[in-house]
Amino acid sequence: MSPRRVVRREAHAKVNVFLRVLRAREDGYHDLESLVLPIDLADVVTVRVADSLKVDVRGAADLTGKVPPGGLNLALVGALALAGVCDPSGGASIQIDKRIPVAAGLGGGSADAAAAISALNELWGCGIDEATLADIGARVGSDVPAMLAGHPVLMHGRGERTAAASVGKLWWVLVTFDFGIRSPDAYRWWDEDRGPTGPDPQPLLDAAEAGDAETLGPLLFNDLEPSVFARHPAVGKAKRDLLAEGALGAVMSGSGSSVVGLARTRGHATSIAAAFPGAVIASGPPPGR
Ligand code: C5P
Repeated sequence: MSPRRVVRREAHAKVNVFLRVLRAREDGYHDLESLVLPIDLADVVTVRVADSLKVDVRGAADLTGKVPPGGLNLALVGALALAGVCDPSGGASIQIDKRIPVAAGLGGGSADAAAAISALNELWGCGIDEATLADIGARVGSDVPAMLAGHPVLMHGRGERTAAASVGKLWWVLVTFDFGIRSPDAYRWWDEDRGPTGPDPQPLLDAAEAGDAETLGPLLFNDLEPSVFARHPAVGKAKRDLLAEGALGAVMSGSGSSVVGLARTRGHATSIAAAFPGAVIASGPPPGR
């Protein structure tokens, strides 16, 4: 087969259905447990053969302006990490069509990195297996292995250990903010505040597997919430407002700032979203995942 000149991947956003912080580690990370659910909101990552390695971010100015440029861009970091293992003969241009809010806890940067790694593995004919790609992804960011999986996963360790999880289709209302929260800040605040460690997630996992949104709603939790809400009251208010509008449950995703409300159906999500200008309706997992 002749090598491909262009490879395109959808880079799906994620929702953390629960996020349980177990302990701070010596290396500055935290051991955690989280159910990571890909949703149908996605960036599109296109890689093309080129002489050098470069990244070009397109989309609405309010999104592209927030994407870290050049060497700080996670997709480029991912590409460099892959190139270090695969030693391609040329470079690549990486085009990101941005739709996922930035620094929102929705995994946009990690999803772009995962999509770039996966697409370049094909473009460059590296033939690297999934487990090795996940190792490469873990070096780029703790969430990248989960985003490489392409289906719901239960994540452990600092995020690098993932196991496939089964989740029925769920409808969400995503409430986003014009400010992001850096994950090092959210985890440091958890340390400073001696934040909580939530309950055994098994009942939540059972409800998620059954796609039983009514049971799942009250079980959603994120141990980073109290510290973030204390410093960004608008995020806590969004959670209370989602519940007041009839969401079955609401939870901050990742280290924030987005809060996601769980709905019964697409129609229910639409009626909740009407109270939140700019809210996005999403479902997950995406078909076929
Ligand atoms: O792995 P990543 O680069 O996404 O992590 C960014 C920062 O978030 C880490 O340097 C650390 O401060 C914090 N973090 C953490 N525990 C995790 C994941 C991230 O403390 N499991």
